[in-house]
Amino acid sequence: MARHIIQQADEAADGRRTAPAALRNSGPLIEALRRRLPSEGRVLEVASGTGQHAAAFSEAFPDLDWVPSDVDPGQRQSIAAWRRSSGVKNLAEPLAIDISASWPVGQGFAQAVLTVNLLHLVPETFVSRFFEEARSALSSGGRVIVYGPFLRGSSYASEGDRAFDTSLRARDPTIGYKSVEAVSEFAGAAGFSPLANDAMPANNLLLTFNLP
Ligand SMILES: C[S@@+](CC[C@H](N)C(=O)[O-])C[C@H]1O[C@@H](n2cnc3c(N)ncnc32)[C@H](O)[C@@H]1O
Repeated sequence: MARHIIQQADEAADGRRTAPAALRNSGPLIEALRRRLPSEGRVLEVASGTGQHAAAFSEAFPDLDWVPSDVDPGQRQSIAAWRRSSGVKNLAEPLAIDISASWPVGQGFAQAVLTVNLLHLVPETFVSRFFEEARSALSSGGRVIVYGPFLRGSSYASEGDRAFDTSLRARDPTIGYKSVEAVSEFAGAAGFSPLANDAMPANNLLLTFNLP
């Protein structure tokens, strides 16, 4: 199994990577996150990728402290480059977080954990661990927000989704789309309740869960 999949991106001379998908979905995500993020506190973004989102989201939500992270050192360099060039004060240095292992943060570190376009790229055991670690990182009443492509039951939202999932599974049979129901079960097993299911462009979903 490939340890992790890195996204397609161009790289500027200063180290900032730019991925077309992140350019496309930043605006719709900011709009939806306005309804789902807490009004203040700290957001831990898991698998921040290039750092484009971290720069855009921290600027859009100046009352939140934004902590990006990624498992990949090259991605963390790109996140750091976006942080330097944006000059946004509420954007922290990226943490090294692998969702299949313990996160280097204490209980109550964040009020929200966000991950964008990660869960379809990892095995189910990683998704289960993700929710357990998120629970440990959150304060009471905290929330987890996950965005990406999902199955609805056993159905694909489109033929394009079916083709993409088939290509992922051909590359690594342990990864691929998860159903909304399976993700909700993993979240529930870690103590989260479903709060919202927002339809997003290109058949994606933004799922929000919270802790009591
Ligand atoms: C498709 S990219 C999405 C990046 C970003 N969230 C976005 O939407 O632009 C997937 C990211 O997940 C990271 N990743 C893959 N496996 C991971 C893992 N086990 N733990 C944490 N991050 C991981 C990769 O390094 C990559 O940056």
